[in-house]
Amino acid sequence: MHKAGWGWRRSRWDLIGFIALLFLTASISQAAPQAQATAADYVGADTCSACHAEQFEQFRKTYMAAVLAEKYPVEQQGCEACHGPGRAHVEAIGEATDDASMERAKSLIYSFARHSPKENADRCLTCHIKNENQSLFRRSRHLGSGVFCGDCHTAHLPKEVQSAAQTSTALASLFSVPKRAAEQVWLDDHLLKEEQPKLCYSCHRNVEAEFQLPVHHRVQEGLLKCTDCHNPHGSVTANELRSVRTEACYACHVEKRGPFVFEHAAVQVEGCTGCHVPHGSTNAFRLKRRQERQLCLECHTAPEGLNVPHPRLGFQEAGECSRCHVEIHGSNYQKQFLR
Ligand code: HEC
Ligand code: HEC
Ligand code: HEC
Ligand code: HEC
Ligand code: HEC
Ligand code: HEC
Ligand code: HEC
Ligand code: HEC
Ligand code: HEC
Ligand code: HEC
Repeated sequence: MHKAGWGWRRSRWDLIGFIALLFLTASISQAAPQAQATAADYVGADTCSACHAEQFEQFRKTYMAAVLAEKYPVEQQGCEACHGPGRAHVEAIGEATDDASMERAKSLIYSFARHSPKENADRCLTCHIKNENQSLFRRSRHLGSGVFCGDCHTAHLPKEVQSAAQTSTALASLFSVPKRAAEQVWLDDHLLKEEQPKLCYSCHRNVEAEFQLPVHHRVQEGLLKCTDCHNPHGSVTANELRSVRTEACYACHVEKRGPFVFEHAAVQVEGCTGCHVPHGSTNAFRLKRRQERQLCLECHTAPEGLNVPHPRLGFQEAGECSRCHVEIHGSNYQKQFLR
């Protein structure tokens, strides 16, 4: 009985294995035409320009186009670097007579609209995987959530982007600030669909709200960018920060780096976000608590050694701790950060 059960299970596994093999061979034979494309399957960007003049004109102006044309093999010099070999598409379009053959002609070229974010990203990553900024994109939160390169970048500046870039900030409505043309902004800012932080706010509405709070890093005002702290292409840190924990902050707040003779363990263990919120808050110095001493007392529940003046000064009721502990991030002179 037992044996028979096992035999059944084995044959079931064999069956599953066989079906898996079938799928595998099917997918390989489907992928084969792509992989085996020869130089003859490519026609060059000039051929595409005859029918897609707008895309051609836009892409021609980019830095990417210039580098591709100069340094890459024919297959990767223009449109076909992203859209794949185009000869079949061009020929089929020429011969198309009705809707059905037109649809078939369209399907013979790689369109980003027809594929998954992952497949689309793989296209870009054939080249950009070498760039250390993008090399972790495959494991990024963005791709994991179905956001691919084309949600932030565009190889072809569409019309709606051109008009969106014209909307002015509050400041610009008071003063006439000289502005770059939409197309120039796109070319300068790494082909982004929109400028930061607007691009990011379009999906991260909660973060937009945080930067509206009175004490905030001046991202709205254009002093800092989201990408000063984050790498939207993914990183090895939590929250996709540019570098590990406090390092992300030291890039600008260099004086907090130390090294200090007397370090505050809170900075080392909890990091800056143990006491501060990074985006914005209603508290002075962007602290996590409205009253600083509440923050300190979360960890220092009873700082009352023999020679410590605290009980006499009644600090638990009033006054901020950093009134006396002025070097709260670390000191070179004094263990208690009094100077
Ligand atoms: C003879 C004219 C012609 C040439 C040459 C041509 N195309 Fe097209 N292409 C078309 C037409 C027509 C469509 C359908 C447009 C539509 O539906 O709006 C199309 C559609 C496309 C699409 C969208 C496919 C889809 O699924 O919607 C892409 C991408 C594309 N072409 C890229 C290229 C590239 C890259 C080249 C050069 C290798 C090229 N085309 C050359 C006429 C052409
Ligand atoms: C860097 C990669 C890249 C290159 C190079 C590129 N494209 Fe595209 N193309 C895209 C992406 C991504 C889209 C999807 C829409 C968008 O993001 O603007 C697209 C969209 C299109 C479309 C609209 C139909 C669709 O699939 O949505 C056409 C037509 C097209 N490209 C033609 C061209 C032509 C012609 C060239 C060469 C001059 C070219 N592309 C070069 C990435 C590229
Ligand atoms: C055939 C290789 C290749 C492919 C495929 C490719 N790129 Fe590029 N890309 C380059 C090169 C080369 C440059 C210019 C040098 C550099 O920045 O490394 C570049 C530059 C860029 C830039 C920076 C432009 C600037 O002005 O700083 C962006 C953004 C970009 N590519 C996005 C994409 C996206 C999105 C895709 C996929 C839709 C893609 N690329 C596909 C080779 C490629
Ligand atoms: C969530 C939005 C987002 C996604 C998704 C995204 N990027 Fe970017 N990318 C940006 C922003 C913002 C910048 C500008 C960074 C700066 O100004 O420091 C940038 C810059 C770049 C640059 C130029 C500078 C650099 O960091 O190397 C390249 C090249 C690039 N991206 C390629 C890609 C490719 C390829 C993909 C997909 C594999 C991709 N990006 C996906 C937002 C994005
Ligand atoms: C001064 C550096 C800094 C800047 C500038 C910054 N961030 Fe952050 N961000 C952080 C840190 C640090 C965290 C982690 C917070 C934590 O650990 O509590 C974070 C967390 C996040 C998170 C995840 C948590 C959440 O609130 O949903 C998102 C999403 C995010 N940031 C998006 C953005 C966007 C979008 C921008 C630009 C508008 C931006 N950040 C600008 C430092 C920054
Ligand atoms: C097309 C929508 C979209 C755009 C545009 C976009 N994001 Fe995101 N982002 C997401 C989604 C979806 C997630 C994953 C879910 C989440 O954590 O909110 C995410 C996650 C993140 C995270 C990680 C949060 C965490 O908890 O680890 C950061 C940081 C972030 N985005 C920053 C940015 C920045 C900076 C920009 C602008 C350059 C940007 N995003 C643009 C959709 C977007
Ligand atoms: C790109 C540079 C840059 C980075 C990175 C940066 N900051 Fe700042 N930070 C500033 C600037 C500039 C100011 C002061 C001007 C202002 O109000 O925006 C500031 C101010 C502050 C303040 C003082 C607020 C006040 O009310 O005086 C705190 C606290 C702070 N940052 C914490 C952080 C933390 C925590 C990080 C890391 C998550 C960080 N910063 C990363 C540039 C940066
Ligand atoms: C133990 C809690 C704590 C930690 C951890 C902490 N801070 Fe602070 N920080 C404070 C307090 C309290 C203040 C306001 C009082 C003062 O500085 O006099 C402050 C003020 C600041 C200020 C504005 C005033 C100044 O001194 O320049 C900056 C900038 C700042 N912190 C950055 C950082 C950075 C960057 C980190 C991470 C390396 C960090 N903080 C970690 C408690 C902390
Ligand atoms: C996240 C927890 C945490 C927070 C919040 C925190 N600290 Fe600390 N602090 C520590 C730890 C852990 C030590 C190291 C204790 C030790 O070495 O015995 C320390 C050490 C100290 C010391 C030196 C004590 C000694 O005997 O060497 C002082 C003074 C101090 N903290 C003051 C403060 C003040 C003031 C605040 C509020 C601005 C604060 N701390 C917030 C965790 C914290
Ligand atoms: C009026 C000034 C003053 C204020 C306000 C103050 N401290 Fe102190 N603190 C001191 C002095 C002085 C010492 C002891 C120095 C010594 O031992 O030589 C000390 C010592 C400490 C120590 C070390 C205790 C130990 O047992 O060694 C901690 C922890 C501490 N303070 C935390 C705090 C916290 C938390 C607050 C706010 C709730 C605070 N202090 C407010 C002056 C102050």
